[in-house]
Amino acid sequence: MEPAKEKESSVQDEAVGRSNFKNCNHIAFYRRQKRLHPGKSLYRALLDSATLSNDGVKLQIINEKNKVPLQVEIYAIEGNIFRIKINELSPLKSRYEVQDVLIKEPATQRLSIAQKEAGILVLTCDAEDRKLHITANPFLIELESQGETVLSVNTNGLLNFEHLQPPPQNSKRTAQIKEDISADSFQENQEDLGLWEEKFGSFLDIKANGPSSIGLDFSLHGFEHVYGIPEHAETFLLKNTSDNDAYRLFNLDVYGHKIHDKMGIYGSVPFLLAHKPNRTSGIFWLNSSETLVEINTKAVMEHVPSKAPPDITKQRVIPQTDVRWMSESGIIDVFLLLGPTPFDIFKQYSQLTGTQALPPLFSLGYHQCRWNYEDEQDVKAVDAGFDENNIPYDVIWLDIEHTEGKKYFTWDKKKFQSPKRMQELLKRKKRKLVVIIDPHIKVDPTYTLYSQAKKRGYFVKDRKGQDFEGICWPGSSSYLDFTNPEVRQWYAEQFAFKSYEGSTEILFVWNDMNEPSVFKGAELTMQRDAVHHGNWEHREVHNLYGFYQQMATAEGLIKRSEGQTRPFVLTRSFFAGSQKYGAVWTGDNVAEWSYLKISIPMLLTISIAGISFCGADVGGFIGDPEPELLVRWYQAGAYQPFFRGHSNIESKRREPWLFGDENTRIIREAIRERYTLLPYLYSLFYQAHTTAEPVMRPLWVEFPKEQETFGVEDEYMLGNALLVHPVTEQEATTVNILLPGSDEVWYDFRSFRRLDCPGTLKMPVTIENIPVFQRGGSVVSLKTAVGRSTEWMADTSYELHVALDSKGSAVGEFYLDDGHSFQYLHKKQFLHRKFTFHKNVFSSSCADEIGQYHTKCVVEQVLILGVEKKPTSVTARLHDGRDKEVIFTYDTKTSMLMLEQLLLNIGADWEIHIK
Ligand code: NOJ
Repeated sequence: MEPAKEKESSVQDEAVGRSNFKNCNHIAFYRRQKRLHPGKSLYRALLDSATLSNDGVKLQIINEKNKVPLQVEIYAIEGNIFRIKINELSPLKSRYEVQDVLIKEPATQRLSIAQKEAGILVLTCDAEDRKLHITANPFLIELESQGETVLSVNTNGLLNFEHLQPPPQNSKRTAQIKEDISADSFQENQEDLGLWEEKFGSFLDIKANGPSSIGLDFSLHGFEHVYGIPEHAETFLLKNTSDNDAYRLFNLDVYGHKIHDKMGIYGSVPFLLAHKPNRTSGIFWLNSSETLVEINTKAVMEHVPSKAPPDITKQRVIPQTDVRWMSESGIIDVFLLLGPTPFDIFKQYSQLTGTQALPPLFSLGYHQCRWNYEDEQDVKAVDAGFDENNIPYDVIWLDIEHTEGKKYFTWDKKKFQSPKRMQELLKRKKRKLVVIIDPHIKVDPTYTLYSQAKKRGYFVKDRKGQDFEGICWPGSSSYLDFTNPEVRQWYAEQFAFKSYEGSTEILFVWNDMNEPSVFKGAELTMQRDAVHHGNWEHREVHNLYGFYQQMATAEGLIKRSEGQTRPFVLTRSFFAGSQKYGAVWTGDNVAEWSYLKISIPMLLTISIAGISFCGADVGGFIGDPEPELLVRWYQAGAYQPFFRGHSNIESKRREPWLFGDENTRIIREAIRERYTLLPYLYSLFYQAHTTAEPVMRPLWVEFPKEQETFGVEDEYMLGNALLVHPVTEQEATTVNILLPGSDEVWYDFRSFRRLDCPGTLKMPVTIENIPVFQRGGSVVSLKTAVGRSTEWMADTSYELHVALDSKGSAVGEFYLDDGHSFQYLHKKQFLHRKFTFHKNVFSSSCADEIGQYHTKCVVEQVLILGVEKKPTSVTARLHDGRDKEVIFTYDTKTSMLMLEQLLLNIGADWEIHIK
């Protein structure tokens, strides 16, 4: 191995150890918060201080022990959301409030006072049927929607707000904090509380503002199933936590992260969803500092008032989930989403943080990545390999070795002598290139990007005001301060074709190592006392660093095309709202079956937290998958939103044709199946973009009343029509599949066999493919043939799969635009169609009159599944009123009616009558 690579891999080896990372008990603010036990809250609300405005209500609460008042602001936000902000009434200095995550200041609705007496204040929201009860002593808020108490705040009295204090005078920094929550037991070693300094191994964190943590608890009434708060390599259903085992939200570079561990990995979305049969609700904790979440689902007694005899109340046991959030700093700013349906929750959350950016169509194709494709010849050979093997793909990726000494925006001149020529070749093949651009910048005065950024003061600073320096791939590096809008703008300009030499319009970007990763830093990240724009410590913004880099990169790609072309940016680190800027992947997984298996709950969790465009490295990044595992991973990846094969520098080459003819054939089949499905997938992304419906979704989202779906994490829905059950066990010959819904009809997606009796079925599987089922009542659009890449397929005709439900009906939507520009937005150049099958008539109509897009593309075939008897005639009524006989065949065994040679324009209105 070359010395440089040897160094890199030994640095990585160091990173593998779990001991490099903290457990909860290493975290000082957690230990401090945990000294407050459930019980009567320390806070009392001063109801007389309440002032009502058009916007919301403000009132003070006071800590009975230290007498420090806090200001509580409560807002009713349009669309069944409440927002609660809690800050110090008069802080010593301002506390950090998250910027740039909310897409706009949420529109508030009027609250009015319904009752104010004896320590209780009841507010109602005029516009919607919801109420808020504030109890003064102890301070408690209960939220009611349509007469149901959904959620309460501070039920366990765990509101805990460390107010800012002047630094202690004595040199030992051991001044006693006055507001100490359990003064009696305040005998512990002061340093253990990590008030002004905190140690982890040999690392020392000096806290400019001292202790500033916050915490609050919520009770979700009647809920026992909670989800969300990615990213963890954990089960989909959140588990009850025990002491020292909270879910940690702290973005970290964890190479080969452990499975079933609640430690923080690359990204954080502090959004938790709770579901029960008649309601879904959500808690969005808007805080970008390190956050810990504890969960406790339990059974509680509920008093049910009974009518006769009048004064007797009955009791019943109901589930309740208590969720305790704790953050290192900032303020309490929490959004409580009341649903009631899962789709309402997605909409409410997107109202706050935005929806998934509509990806360019090519990015939904297959991506071939490796650390590294060595040089231009290698790229050319791999590209040709796909054609030789008749496997479609859209994008080839270049990892860090393509640069000159890990200086991003440059090329290794020996290996990539003519990057433009290489891109020309790819362009002729209608394919794209993605290159990696990390946030660390090599300290090298001859590197223009470095010297410019240094001169302008664009790097994050250390505590003493010098440019922060840490070690990453290039060796000593400084880190751009993406929290500064000026830096983002400057960075965005670096993507201009004239600035980024050797780049062309087919080059897109991958942002990696942006937690940020700092090899020799505490927990391999930036020290928390580093300083950002506005003098904010790194601890305040840590979880937002990657979010801001992806934002600036996406802006750069849009700018370089003068606003014409949709960007594609993949990021490893993310936060709430990252969906607006592109795709995410789950980082450095391992080529083992257990990692394939965990990828499903991980992607489902990311998806329901608003980020639809997500994927896991196909094959597993670290190590060498056995062929069967690789095949199974391709089959799963083909049905997941972001589909990229990737492998580590030390792994053996892994292009899909290197595992013998048989495996090549099966992988080819999986990738080709993905390509035929692109019209459906693209339509799903349009829905994610416009209405915030996740592309990959858990079963309970589609079957919210079916309890048996609530814990399912080995299968999922792709949109509302396809149920996918990846095979994640070695040498599996059968799998247990849950086909939910009591009166649903399901069809095997490939054999069209109808399955009338839903429930859990043991089904045989072979290595050929993974089980996929189409739900009765849906229409799925496909391409009739596959090309070398998505662009080759633009004119390829369509095939519609219409699966009838038990009533003989089906509906589906279809979306089409040019696949790459913003014309769909600015000039409304798109087609949004609706397909309906009802009473033996299948019709195509416009779903959105505003959209116009001309296409010559036709629907060539329609397959109707679940047709009871052979028709005597089938006619198509065209747009201009003419009728045309349709050629059809009927298969009695599967009840499938196939209509052929239709040639009906995909964008026109037409009807097919079956008699
Ligand atoms: C870490 C990333 O997770 C991985 O995908 C990449 O190949 C390496 N960094 C090298 O850039």
